[in-house]
Amino acid sequence: MSNIVLIGPMGSGKSTVGAALARRLGRPHVDSDHFFVARYGPIPDYFTTHGEKDFREREHRVVAELLDSPRPSVISLGGGAVMDERTRALLGEQTVIMLDITEEQAALRIGDGTTRPVLGDEPMEAWKRIYAEREGIYRACADMVLPADDESIETRVDTIVARLNPTPSGDDTTP
Ligand code: S3P
Repeated sequence: MSNIVLIGPMGSGKSTVGAALARRLGRPHVDSDHFFVARYGPIPDYFTTHGEKDFREREHRVVAELLDSPRPSVISLGGGAVMDERTRALLGEQTVIMLDITEEQAALRIGDGTTRPVLGDEPMEAWKRIYAEREGIYRACADMVLPADDESIETRVDTIVARLNPTPSGDDTTP
């Protein structure tokens, strides 16, 4: 059984939805950013000291380690993890779900962006540019895309579970 991997832009709820989905499925949940921070310290500090290139290399290694989990897990990835082609190759063997989000929702969730160094001094301008660069990659990696909307976390989890296990009655035939 493969892992379920959540990808998508910053602020799309990968960590919260991942945790709720894992609870529902009775699987462990791991978050690549949390794992990174536990091992290497806060991401903004890491960027300042080592730079983004080094961060991306370590992020890839962290993600590869998590995907190699002995138990099928729910794994939330940092928004930029899919930019590494080695990581994308590993995702081919997983069940990958993209959580999408609108600019309006992102603006509410991103705040001043201080915990996300890639957003710099103009967080929403940066968010829009980065989203435009990555959207096609997220979609190409995903087995399932959850469109942006305002539903609750539990409703999002309901939708994912229904789509992972389509009912024979054909209520949900979306792949
Ligand atoms: C990043 C997203 C962040 C974190 C880092 C870089 C990105 O994770 O990995 O700040 O490049 O999109 P979230 O998507 O969980 O915010």
